[in-house]
Amino acid sequence: MRILLIGATGTIGKAIAATLGRRHEVLLASRQQAPLHVDIADPASIRGLYAKVGKVGAVISAAGQARFKPLDELSDADFRFSLDNKLMGQVNLVRYGFASVADSGSITITSGILAQQPSRGSGAISLVNAGLEGFARAAALEAPRGIRINVVSPPWLTETLQALGMPLQGGLPAATVAQAYVRSVEGTETGQVISP
Ligand SMILES: NC(=O)c1ccc[n+]([C@@H]2O[C@H](COP(=O)([O-])OP(=O)(O)OC[C@H]3O[C@@H](n4cnc5c(N)ncnc54)[C@H](OP(=O)(O)O)[C@@H]3O)[C@@H](O)[C@H]2O)c1
Repeated sequence: MRILLIGATGTIGKAIAATLGRRHEVLLASRQQAPLHVDIADPASIRGLYAKVGKVGAVISAAGQARFKPLDELSDADFRFSLDNKLMGQVNLVRYGFASVADSGSITITSGILAQQPSRGSGAISLVNAGLEGFARAAALEAPRGIRINVVSPPWLTETLQALGMPLQGGLPAATVAQAYVRSVEGTETGQVISP
C-alpha cells in the first residue's frame, strides 16, 4: 500500500515509518526535514501536497503543535496558533484528503492523552485534542467510499519524557505507540479513538 505519512521526522513519525516501511511504500512528509514538504497550518500547502502525491491507500498524521502554558498566560495568539495548527491542520488533512484516498482506505490523525487526562497548563492542548477526537468520530460517519477515519491518542512517550528530564512512569516507547497506527491502517475500525 502507498501510505502518506505527515510528521515523518518526529519521534512518533520515525517509529511509524520504521514499522510500516517494512511492508508498505511510505511517503515521508514534514514541514522541513522530510523529502515531501507541507505546513499543515496552511490549507494551500496541504492541497499542494495531495496534488503532488496522487492516490494513496492511507494517510497518517503524526504532526501538529499546540501551546502548553498556564491558563492565565495563554494569549489569544496562543489559542489561534493551537487551533490553526494541530486542530484545523489535521481536520483539513481529512477534508482535503478524501479525494486522494483510495476506496476503503484510511486517514489516521493524532490527538493525545491530555484530551482525557488534563494537567495544569494543558488548556489549549486539551481543547484541541478533544476537538480532534470529536471531529474524527463525526467525520467517520460521512466519509465517502468506505474510507475509515481514526484518531490515535498517545500517552507521554518515553523518549519525550527523557528529553524533558521528567519521570518515565506512565510513558510508552515510540515503537509501541506506532503499533496503534498500524492497527488503524491495516485493521477495519473507523470512528475510533485508539489509545496505545
Ligand atoms: N511526544 C509525546 O509524548 C506525545 C504525546 C501525546 C501526543 N503527542 C502528539 O503526537 C504528535 C507528534 O508528536 P512528536 O513528539 O512525534 O512530535 P515531534 O517529535 O516534535 O515531531 C513533529 C513532526 O511534525 C512535523 N511538523 C511540525 N509542524 C508541522 C507542520 N506545521 N506541518 C507539517 N509537519 C509539521 C515535524 O516536521 P519537521 O521536523 O520537518 O519540522 C516533525 O516531523 C503531536 O501532535 C503531539 O502533540 C505527542
